[in-house]
Amino acid sequence: MPTFSPVTPEIVSALEKIVGADYVVTTEPELLLYGRDETEDLQYRPEVAVRPASTDEISKIMALSHAHDIPVTPRGAGTGLSGGALPVFGGIVLSVDRMNAILEIDENNLMTRVQPGVITGVLQDTVAEKGLYYPPDPASNGSCMIGGNIAENSGGPHCVKYGLTKDYVLALEAVMPNGDVFRTGGKLRKDVAGYNLTQLLVGSEGTLAIVTEATLRLIPLPSYRRTVLAPFDDLDTAAKGIVAVYQSRITPAALEIVEKAAIEAAVEHLGRDVPHSNAEAQILLELDGTDEESLDRDLMKVGEVLLEVGAMDVMLADTPAKERELWSVRKCLGEAVKKQAAYVECDTAVPPDKVPDLLRGVREIAATHEIRQISYGHAGDGNIHVNVLTDDTDRAVREQKLQPAIEAIFELATGLGGTITGEHGVGCAQSRYLSLCRDPIAMAAMQGIKDAFDPKGLLNPGKVLPTEVPPPLPVAHV
Ligand code: LAC
Ligand code: ZN
Repeated sequence: MPTFSPVTPEIVSALEKIVGADYVVTTEPELLLYGRDETEDLQYRPEVAVRPASTDEISKIMALSHAHDIPVTPRGAGTGLSGGALPVFGGIVLSVDRMNAILEIDENNLMTRVQPGVITGVLQDTVAEKGLYYPPDPASNGSCMIGGNIAENSGGPHCVKYGLTKDYVLALEAVMPNGDVFRTGGKLRKDVAGYNLTQLLVGSEGTLAIVTEATLRLIPLPSYRRTVLAPFDDLDTAAKGIVAVYQSRITPAALEIVEKAAIEAAVEHLGRDVPHSNAEAQILLELDGTDEESLDRDLMKVGEVLLEVGAMDVMLADTPAKERELWSVRKCLGEAVKKQAAYVECDTAVPPDKVPDLLRGVREIAATHEIRQISYGHAGDGNIHVNVLTDDTDRAVREQKLQPAIEAIFELATGLGGTITGEHGVGCAQSRYLSLCRDPIAMAAMQGIKDAFDPKGLLNPGKVLPTEVPPPLPVAHV
């Protein structure tokens, strides 16, 4: 296990000089908030948290920590699901929440320049007022931040048509672990000069450099949208519906699947019935476009395809309120599962036509290991969030029970040509499984990249590449 130097009172004073005493957190309970994210069961304690307001301040913090061998864990909104923002070795948590300016919306080039603390939903609403669209929309888009989205290469329901965060990042300003500031990319739709450091930083989970500014691509906001819900009396048939939609050559803007256990969790969480709550599975499908007639033609066609494959109904949300109602069921599932019991989420992704095999296999694994499972997700992307649950209150017992099932699920997913995480990242929660989907040569190349950026291993240690980390603090499950 790596060892680091502690944060001394002198370091705290130096941090206060850099960012101002109001923006240095050293006391509990506030400090503990910087040691949690949305990952179940994980709590760590940073020695100090800082909230810089500029690139220059971040550069100085990094130079200081570098000189004193203190680990730094960058943090956005703390909505992550793989423990990426957790200070597993203590040290400094560096929050970018004060750097929340939309610096520019460039309507000539359809691009925006933003600071990392901008909330994704705020950016989306702001550009929408100008008829523009920033599509990546993790379920937490009301609170997550662009910096965290870039670190995790976040996804969400609309990636199936519009791509992930990586598809929108054109340029970055970032601070190296030693405090050096650099820029990569530009307001360029084409730029192939050298290694693509911009894209290397996207999805690097804050382990290589700290992003302090991003230039993002925007697209015209589609004028029309249609949302439908198709209930099925059999999960396998619903999963096959995904493939049928692909075969129809229609590209949905979203294509989600929710199985019965997830619908039941949503009903419990929302405290009300939801449409077609008795279905064994539901497909939620959205189409969008700029031409209403062709959109309705596609809608008819996709409706027929779903009925042909075995949907019991195809229900159109014909008002914005009904649309919101359908999405509220889907979007609450993360929270709804959390309320059920202690759980671990396996963020599996497989080729979309393997979703039926994945869902069938997961059910078999749950039965074999005698655990509950709740699956749902971005089926159009082949990205299924498989949650395994147990009512055991003791962490060690929980681990013992869930671990073999988790391993079997990841082996199933990778055996189907899939991966251990589609959009939540590896963080510290998944790193022990990374070698299931990356071969030894690739693992060594990744370690080489880490060493090139961060030879002292101070930036977000214990993440992505398998590393032994200290045990987390006890967390009461609520
Ligand atoms: C979702 C989160 C869990 O899709 O990724 O709801
Ligand atoms: Zn998701």
